[in-house]
Amino acid sequence: MRRLRKTGLLRGLVRETELSAGHLVYPMFVRHGVDGRVPIASLPGIDHLSIGAAVDEAREAAALGIPAVLLFGLPAAKDEEGSGAWDDEGVVQLATRAIKAAHPDLLVITDLCLCEYTSHGHCGVLRDDGVVDNDLTLDLLARAAVSQATAGADVVAPSDMMDGRVGALRAALDEHGLAETPIMAYSAKYASAFYGPFREAAESAPAYGDRGGYQMDPANAEEAVREAELDAAEGADVIMVKPALPYLDVIRRVKDATRLPVAAYNVSGEYAMLKAAAAAGLLDERAAVIEALTGIRRAGADIVITYHAKDVATWLSAPA
Ligand code: PBG
Repeated sequence: MRRLRKTGLLRGLVRETELSAGHLVYPMFVRHGVDGRVPIASLPGIDHLSIGAAVDEAREAAALGIPAVLLFGLPAAKDEEGSGAWDDEGVVQLATRAIKAAHPDLLVITDLCLCEYTSHGHCGVLRDDGVVDNDLTLDLLARAAVSQATAGADVVAPSDMMDGRVGALRAALDEHGLAETPIMAYSAKYASAFYGPFREAAESAPAYGDRGGYQMDPANAEEAVREAELDAAEGADVIMVKPALPYLDVIRRVKDATRLPVAAYNVSGEYAMLKAAAAAGLLDERAAVIEALTGIRRAGADIVITYHAKDVATWLSAPA
């Protein structure tokens, strides 16, 4: 082996895993009513964006060779049902139209969930006893998916973890002439502490209770494979595993079991951890980020969704 490691060129020739901007997706937070951009305290380097700022940010990502953005919305108002999610003039719908008009070649993926839109912060509508009503939520998610895809979303990404949602969304999209819109399903979504900074950014922390009723137990991997297989059978085009770094084994198992494209979400807490360590002078940010994302790719992820996307694309275009 040592002979192959000796010279840089040869090392490159036999390298098994490639990390390039072309595999990255850049998440963005579009917020109703902000002027330009407002930094998000919990996610250093990431901002809340107006529609105009989102178009600028999307242009920067595209110019760096990043093929796709993932949009989250902070609506004007929240209510019990999360009706902002299917408002055709909602913030994600407006941003999708504006970005597609300005940069038709950039893929727009829309996160599809109610938690950013509900006053209680849960991912679905609640029954009287405070538990999420799975089937009622499916109808609302379907309306949101149709609204997002009609606004021009190239891919919809349901992140709610309701049972049966992929099938319900597929049927609703097909019925509305949107049969060509792929579904990227957050199939293995764990009840994770690593979403903390995101919930501040999206103002979507549950007002009471937790998401343990619909998100997965971090101790389970077989269950992730079953969830992924169910979503695949219901018509998911891409399977997502989330978070990424504590679940590299799950990425590999889901990839091997489904043979579908797999996306891994390098979530807010994973990002914040490296940013904080780098800011404290404890880690070389560039080296640590590239190593972490290469590990996610090596585990089997075709697509890596990451807040580091612009930095990584910049570093990769100017090798150290
Ligand atoms: C839910 C959603 C969450 C994230 C993406 N979509 C959080 C949650 O379940 O609370 C987290 C992403 C991140 O932490 O970066 N719509």
